[in-house]
Amino acid sequence: MTQQPQAKYRRDYTAPEFTITDIDLTFELDAARTTVTAISRVQRQGSHPAALRLDGGELKLIALKVDDRDWRDYRLQDGALVIDNLPDTFTLTVINTLSPAANTALEGLYQSGEALCTQCEAEGFRHITWYLDRPDVLARFTTKIIADSTRYPCLLSNGNRIAQGELDDGRHWVQWQDPFLKPCYLFALVAGDFDVLRDSFTTRCGREVALELYVDRGNLDRAGWAMASLKNSMKWDETRFGLEYDLDIYMIVAVDFFNMGAMENKGLNIFNSKFVLARADTATDKDYLNIERVIGHEYFHNWTGNRVTCRDWFQLSLKEGLTVFRDQEFSSDLGSRAVNRISNVRTMRGMQFAEDASPMAHPIRPDKVIEMNNFYTLTVYEKGAEVIRMLHTLLGEANFQKGMQLYFERHDGSAATCDDFVQAMEDASNIDLSHFRRWYSQSGTPIVSVQDNYNPQTKQYTLTIAQRTPPTADQQEKLTLHIPFDIELYDGEGRIIPLQHNGHPVHHVLNVTQAQQTFVFDNVHSRPVPSLLREFSAPVKLEYNWSDAQLTFLMRHARNDFSRWDAAQSLLAAVVRFNVARQQQGQPLSLPQHVADAFRAILLDETIDPALAAEIMTLPTQNEMAELFEVIDPQAIAAVHDSLTRALAQELADELLAIYNAMAVKTYRIDHGDIGKRALRNACLRYLAFGEQTLAQRLVSAQYYGADNMTDAIAALSAAVAAQLPCADTLMAEYDDKWHQDGLVMDKWLALQATSPAADVLKRVRMLLTHRAFSMSNPNRVRSLIGAFVSANPAAFHAPDGSGYQFLVEMLSELNSRNPQIASRLVEPLIRFKRYDEHRQTLMRTALQTLKALPNLSGDLYEKVMKALA
Ligand code: ALA
Ligand code: ZN
Repeated sequence: MTQQPQAKYRRDYTAPEFTITDIDLTFELDAARTTVTAISRVQRQGSHPAALRLDGGELKLIALKVDDRDWRDYRLQDGALVIDNLPDTFTLTVINTLSPAANTALEGLYQSGEALCTQCEAEGFRHITWYLDRPDVLARFTTKIIADSTRYPCLLSNGNRIAQGELDDGRHWVQWQDPFLKPCYLFALVAGDFDVLRDSFTTRCGREVALELYVDRGNLDRAGWAMASLKNSMKWDETRFGLEYDLDIYMIVAVDFFNMGAMENKGLNIFNSKFVLARADTATDKDYLNIERVIGHEYFHNWTGNRVTCRDWFQLSLKEGLTVFRDQEFSSDLGSRAVNRISNVRTMRGMQFAEDASPMAHPIRPDKVIEMNNFYTLTVYEKGAEVIRMLHTLLGEANFQKGMQLYFERHDGSAATCDDFVQAMEDASNIDLSHFRRWYSQSGTPIVSVQDNYNPQTKQYTLTIAQRTPPTADQQEKLTLHIPFDIELYDGEGRIIPLQHNGHPVHHVLNVTQAQQTFVFDNVHSRPVPSLLREFSAPVKLEYNWSDAQLTFLMRHARNDFSRWDAAQSLLAAVVRFNVARQQQGQPLSLPQHVADAFRAILLDETIDPALAAEIMTLPTQNEMAELFEVIDPQAIAAVHDSLTRALAQELADELLAIYNAMAVKTYRIDHGDIGKRALRNACLRYLAFGEQTLAQRLVSAQYYGADNMTDAIAALSAAVAAQLPCADTLMAEYDDKWHQDGLVMDKWLALQATSPAADVLKRVRMLLTHRAFSMSNPNRVRSLIGAFVSANPAAFHAPDGSGYQFLVEMLSELNSRNPQIASRLVEPLIRFKRYDEHRQTLMRTALQTLKALPNLSGDLYEKVMKALA
């Protein structure tokens, strides 16, 4: 590293010294050498003599003009273009070249397959031209694209198409104009040869919007679901939030090479093809639901992100937390609210809590950033959404919507802060949010511990609730938070006991604001069973000394589906803790009868939603289990996961088979009822694969070969691999034969290979680096093979001989220069070494030291490696 990357601090924010009101771009596209001409109207803000400093990346300057005259008064400084002695307002012309084909970082303008496309968030636009690359500079963009007509028949950018034409040299051009002010991170350009799925949507005030979905040639039969999801999103945002689309055209392009999930560029979303393409035989039910969610997410950004954007990148959660909340509500309104909540909570507990406990711990609004791309995190996104959800819980839907309206009234067309958002919510509802604001500045996972007491004489039930937040890597001192704590009390028959105190009803969401607080409930006629932190009403860890009887009772009787699942999680947590300790002492698994019976009761419950039963039957992942421990023992956890599966499979063999048969669905449709049945059936198959082997092989093979859809096929395949059935290799080979040309479909296969419990899994993963379907330059392939191995196969990655760490170091050494963003995501499991025993810690530290010494270590990896080693 020639120069150490510099940290930026939130507290150092200053308004821009110049702004750009209009920019007129011309691209002469060529994969090897593209020429960009940028003509900007620049205005000095206030009276100061400062030079104009434009951000830039790997660019070659061809010409620089001010008000049409060649300008020599400039310097190039660490990529930036610094221009001196400028007037107060002027027209700046910058001409530069760049090479999309050489851009393997996939940031800025790059090549994806045969197409050219852009990704500018967070700071990619500076790799296209020199500019004020910060979100609080909002300009009107006009973009002219000139390119070869045959290679690039489709030329797209933001806004409306205003002109087009042919040139004599085999090239053509299209000019686009975006009437809305926007920061440059929302700029987009795509050139390529695509099939287009066209449709239209009429907004509730009668405006007709053209919808265009661009996919690789031959993929039209996989585009229908994404289009339907887009129309559902547009409708939903009108109905639930009163928000309408604002341009005459909305375009989505699916590309195969993409670092993130998708991008909300104004009027021209660019998507990782994984979140667009789906056909029954190539995509699972989960894929379909993810597509719906991500299509919604990017669409919802049009208001929360684009119309109101972020003042600076420290405010990223302003748009991401809010938009994730919106997409969660969208998915919940269209599908199963309980299943969506369960899936979000699994992510929080299994992954976000781990981030809080890692060297990368940060508040949802970070204070210090070296590489912004490192902050597209579960904390900013998922915990950010939980913070919005808590606001929603505290205010209620009506006040929350009033707050949203006020937020748009105040900030439409401008760049805002998280404080602006909370202020709007506070002003619209008259609810004091001063204490609540701490969620934005404090990192870490609070622990809420609850003690209860029942007094039969006074018929009073008392909850004593205490909160504390352990120190995190970034913050030693922690303050109390305002925690909405949702509860319900049940009597012995499962009836709800009304909450009251001193003759007044008490709301079911308690406001926990102090280090310790007591809540007393009157007229409780027998010792109640409490349901605590219902709906995961705050992103905290709950400590309460549950009895097995309480939990099995809640699994059956809680009125709320989420609570039933959550009780099952607590029951399993106890089993896992107990058995990991036994495992470490060389003792076999012990499965208490009441646990097996509680799961049996779920299988036999004829009234339960199969989707909920599937969630309850699906054991926590090894990573979720790991979060139950301070010091993680990956081998013991893997062993317990395996033996617990086998024990339940044996104990419930008859019920599992009966439900497996009963849940068969005839024809494949994307329908929430059917999705639930398939989920339950496949959860049963997973156990059955670990049961009696002749039956297991027969069921798995029959389902695999008989399936007319990917959901059932991959469920059979993954059950075979997980249980290491003799038929697994044959089935895997058959899948490879059938699908090897289809990268997205092969991603599932690569991930199964990488997460196999086989003893030689690393050897296989290394061999697959040369497989015909794998490519180190495609982020989806890298995530599916290398990412799945390091993040989702903890026992193999943390092998005590250090082979997993060594493998990751080798991969990162290559990816560090090829694609720093992807490298930086992959390094995560390695920087969390403090959670492991001393032997592993030493090995992991050594691996990090090797990375630290890499020549040209990227800022992305530098930030994480240095934090870890600090
Ligand atoms: N802004 C992109 C998103 O939608 C990365 O999350
Ligand atoms: Zn987003």
